[in-house]
Amino acid sequence: MDINDSPFSLSNHNAYQYWREKKLINFTNNIDKLMITIDNIKQPSHNEINALFKLTDQYNLAFYRFNNPSLNFSYNKQKVIQLASYFGLNQFDKNICADEDRLTSITVTKHEGQHQYIPYSNKRLSWHTDGYYNTLEQKIHSIILHCEHPAKSGGESLILDHDIAYILLRDENPDYIQAFMQPNAMTIPANILEGKEIRAAQSGSVFSINSRGGLHMRYSARLRNIEWQQNSATLEAVEFLQNLWENGSPYILRYTLQAHEGLLCKNVLHCRTAFKDNKNPKKKRLLYRGRYFDQILRV
Ligand SMILES: [Fe+2]
Repeated sequence: MDINDSPFSLSNHNAYQYWREKKLINFTNNIDKLMITIDNIKQPSHNEINALFKLTDQYNLAFYRFNNPSLNFSYNKQKVIQLASYFGLNQFDKNICADEDRLTSITVTKHEGQHQYIPYSNKRLSWHTDGYYNTLEQKIHSIILHCEHPAKSGGESLILDHDIAYILLRDENPDYIQAFMQPNAMTIPANILEGKEIRAAQSGSVFSINSRGGLHMRYSARLRNIEWQQNSATLEAVEFLQNLWENGSPYILRYTLQAHEGLLCKNVLHCRTAFKDNKNPKKKRLLYRGRYFDQILRV
C-alpha cells in the first residue's frame, strides 16, 4: 500500500478519520464478545477459526477457550502450536528461554546463568510490546499466550490495542506520531551478561507500517534501559503514554486468563499485575507463549 493512501499518513486526514471512526465505534471492553470457545481442540471448526480471525482483524486481538482440554500438558501445548498455525503463525522467535518445542513456558523460575528476567518472576510487568529489542528484520508481529494454570491471585493482563494508542497520541498531537515514526526514536542498549554482549544495541521507530498496511508498535514503558530520542515531541509522547498507564483509560482491557484460555494477538500493548503463586508446585502459574515473525492471516 502506498503510504499516502494509508490512514497512517499524517497528510491523509480523510483516510485517518474514516479508519479512526471505525475503530472507536466497534470498540468493546466486553471480554465475552472477544472470546471464542473451541469445542474440540483436536480439530477447531471452520467457524471457530473464522470467528477468531475476524476478531483479530477488527481488534488486533481475540481470546479463546479450549472446551475439552487434555490432562496432559504437553498435548495441550501441541494444540496451542496447531491453533496458531491456522493463522499462518509458524516462524517462532526462539528467545533464549524458549522450550524445545519453541513455545516459552512462563512460570516463576530461575534460568541458569541468565539475568533474573521479570517475566519469569511473580513481579508486575510494565507496559510493552513483545520483542521491542529485536532487530528490524525480526519484528514480532503476532503472539499467542495460553494459560495452563492461573496464579492463586493476581497475574491479571491489561491490554491496549496499539491502533487505539496511535489514535490517542495522534488526536493529542500529530507531532507525537511524527516523532514515533522516526527510525531512531528509541534505542535499546546492548544486553551484556557477565561482560559478554548477548544482544547488540538496537535502534528503531515506535510505529511502523507492516507489509499488509497495518500498524506495528515497538515500545517499552521501562524507564531504565531505553534511550529515547532527545527532542520535545518524542519526550512528550513518551510522557503521554506514561500518564495513560498511570491514569488508566476506558480503552484498556483487563482480564485474567483462566486455565485453558488464551490470547491470540497482533503484538498489542500489554502488561501484567504481580501475582501470588499456589504453594502446590503442580499448580504454579503456567502460561505458554509463542512469538512469531509472521502476521496473522487466514490460511
Ligand atoms: Fe509480553
